[in-house]
Amino acid sequence: MRMDDRMLIEQAEKAREAAYAPYSQYAVGAAVLTSGGKIFTGCNIENASYPAGCCAERTAIFKAVSEGERKICRLALVAAPVQEALPSAAYPVPCGICLQVLSEFAAPELRVLLARDRDDYRDCSLQELLPCRFTAQHLAD
Ligand code: THU
Repeated sequence: MRMDDRMLIEQAEKAREAAYAPYSQYAVGAAVLTSGGKIFTGCNIENASYPAGCCAERTAIFKAVSEGERKICRLALVAAPVQEALPSAAYPVPCGICLQVLSEFAAPELRVLLARDRDDYRDCSLQELLPCRFTAQHLAD
């Protein structure tokens, strides 16, 4: 594993500790590396009004963009049930809304690291996760 990939997964793991997930009990952490060489992290933040919650990926992406970053070069995602006694979850995968948000600020070749923990992860591209992107091009046509 590349050292910087491991570091990004570790950052996502750390971010997961702040997850606010009292309703789903599914704690998620994300870390994005930007073209400016900065790392931004995020966790999921749930709400008693369920749709008002936000996924970890969007928390991280919005933090990056709101700090002036416009290009995401790598994303690491870590998720696990809050209760450690539960069986370990499948590899996490970004939801459709997060993939759409990500596609605005990342190339199709973006590597996405889907980690159960820092030693157990899958690596895929944004293109694989979201083969058909809705882009600004569609609006211009
Ligand atoms: N969640 C994320 O944070 N990222 C994803 O890509 C999938 C889902 C969160 C949203 C909600 O707080 C919990 O996981 C269960 O859906």
